[in-house]
Parts: sequence; structure tokens; C-alpha cells
Amino acid sequence: MRTRRRRLAPLALVMPLVLLVSACASHAPQTTLEPKGPIARSINNLFNGVFLVAVFVFFFVELGVLFLVLKFRQRKDDPDPDALPPQTHGNFRLEITWTIIPAVMLALVGFATLTTLFNINRRDENAMTVRVTGQQWFWEYSYDTNGDGKYTDGDVITANDLVIPAGQDINLDIRSNDVIHSYWIPALNGKKDAVPGHQTPLRINADKPGVYVGQCTEFCGLSHGYMRQRVVAMSQGDFDAWLDNQKKDAEMPSSGDAAAGAKLFATQCSGCHLAKGINDAEFAKQGHGKDFLVSGNAPDLTHFATRGVFAGSIFDLWQDTDHDGVVEADEIGGTLNRGDLEAWLRDPPARKPMDAPALPERGQGKIRGMPDLGLQEEQIDQLVAFLQTLD
Ligand code: CUA
Repeated sequence: MRTRRRRLAPLALVMPLVLLVSACASHAPQTTLEPKGPIARSINNLFNGVFLVAVFVFFFVELGVLFLVLKFRQRKDDPDPDALPPQTHGNFRLEITWTIIPAVMLALVGFATLTTLFNINRRDENAMTVRVTGQQWFWEYSYDTNGDGKYTDGDVITANDLVIPAGQDINLDIRSNDVIHSYWIPALNGKKDAVPGHQTPLRINADKPGVYVGQCTEFCGLSHGYMRQRVVAMSQGDFDAWLDNQKKDAEMPSSGDAAAGAKLFATQCSGCHLAKGINDAEFAKQGHGKDFLVSGNAPDLTHFATRGVFAGSIFDLWQDTDHDGVVEADEIGGTLNRGDLEAWLRDPPARKPMDAPALPERGQGKIRGMPDLGLQEEQIDQLVAFLQTLD
């Protein structure tokens, strides 16, 4: 038993190291240790510096402890095993030394931390600003395209994919439409809470075009675990083209399943979802403004098909043809991930929990998220055909 334990001892030492190395080597898109932009990099640099200091302190203290244990251990020929070594109490020089060294170290760490903190929270006055709104359970993004400082009718509102130009600072104004959420794209910056009634700034910057993922990091209700987000960074040219397209209204399909789907959308989905050019005109005819049209907590679907994901970014809208786990910009508009989209329309609460079941004596409870509309298979086909036209 004893020899077996001895043989296992080195294994117990090596295993954590193996785990650590494999964790570093694995595909971890949400690691903070691989920053993909200057702001996240400054956080990582701070971490590396503090970590080095901590490692130095650890080894210094451990070596000291080992030295003292060995030097003052009880020996077989000790005449008096209870005798204490000479005590250092009241040694002025030692006490000053071990007060000053940690104080200087902490002051340095504190200075570096505060500098980094102020730096990553600073607004870039020359940068583009996107308003980020946390909703149960998806992220909405508004672009002030006419530059009037407000987010109104003429502006672009999208969801799930935050599209930005790469290689430059982007200001985010983060807020919430219901409860506290938290926005975090680990590769691009630290996290920031989305608080109802407040607008908090955050800045992100991606070195290169690509997709950077994150997820809501503040418990916000039943589907908190299904509230993900993506930043899709593009070249300036691609971004300008993307934004120009987002400004356009959707086109009413003229025939076939898509036209039937548009009609269905206008009757079944209009209470919550807006597709500019499809259902807003209809409501205007009845004398209502857009505030009436949209519930205020469902994604704007005007350019649904230009996004890589749907339903709070938990399902791919388009097939991930290179199987790297991420739908990239060049895969958007490729082959539709029809299976998940149809399953979603068939019964949304089954794919993403919406509301806790109401107490029996309270009846239905309020509806949060997308309800099961009881659509027929034919209607689902029509809606899918229509949704694909929203590009
Ligand atoms: Cu939103 Cu957790």
C-alpha cells in the first residue's frame, strides 16, 4: 500500500500541470489570456505583471519558510527540545523592511491597476458609438446613423451580432431594458454591467476582422445561460457596405412561399417584431406609431438574414461550413441552418426557456420571450422562406 502510494505521488504532482497545459492549449474562444485587441491586451499585460510579482513573492516566502524549517528543526542530539531560538521581537530594522517592501509592491500594483482601469474605461471622442441594450434574452445594437446623437426611426437597430470595423476604437453605451445583464467579449475588453435606468460606457477594439464571442455574465432570469453575444469585426469597406444595407427597408416579396410568409409575419409576428418596410407601413395606415408596433423587447428583424446567429445567439442561422464552431462573415448567406430555425418556430420555449411556469392559481402568467404560436408545418415553411429574404 505504501509503495503504491509512493508511486502515485509524482502523478499527483504532474496531473495539475498536465491539466493546466491542456487548458491553455485547448480551443477556448472566451479566454482572457488571448487578447485580440489593444484594450484587452492592456488588461492581459497588467495580469501578466501582477502574476509575475505574485510568483516572485510566492517563491521568496516559500524558500524562506523551507530555510527556517530546516535550520531550526529539532535534532536528535538537542539537549533541550523545548528551547526557543533567539527571538527577533522589536527588531526595528527588520520590521521596517518587511513593511516597506510589500507597501512598495502594492503601491506599484495599485498604480498599474488604476492606470489601466482609467485607460480602458476612457471614451474615445473620435470613435463611432453603438448603443447596446440588454434584453431578456438577447443583445440589441443601435447605430446612430444620421448622427443626431439620438437613436430614432432613421437609425439602424439590429440584434445578436455587433458589427464593427476592425482596427479602431468603438464606444459602447450599455444599458438594459429589463433587469441587470452584463456585457463581456473577453477577447476585446473587460465586462460591464447593463443596468436599467443607467447608461455605462465601454470601449472595444479588434485588431483584425473576425468573430469574437461572449455571453451575458450577470444572472438575468431563466435563460441567462442562453444569452450570448458576438462581435463581427470587418474591414472598413465591408463595414460601410454592411451599414448602408442595414439602412434600407426590407422588400416585400411578391410571390411564392416568401410572400405568404410575409403576410403571416404581418399578422402573427407584428405585435413584437419589426421588419421595416413589411409591417410598419401597415400599422401607420391604422394611425399608430412605431412605439405601438413593437413590443420593445423583441429583436428588429429587418435584416435578419445578415446575421450569423439567432434567438439570443444560441443557434447558428447559417451553416458553419468549416466546422470551427463559429459562423463567420463569409458563411453568412451561405447554406441555411434550416433544422434549428424550423425547430425554433415550431416551439420556441422548448428550445430556450422563457418564463417559469405560473402558479396554478394565477393562471397564465406574463409572457416573456417568444411564445409558442402553434404554427402549422406549412406556415413554418412560409415563414422560413420569408425570413431568408430579409438580407
Ligand atoms: Cu442577460 Cu444574464
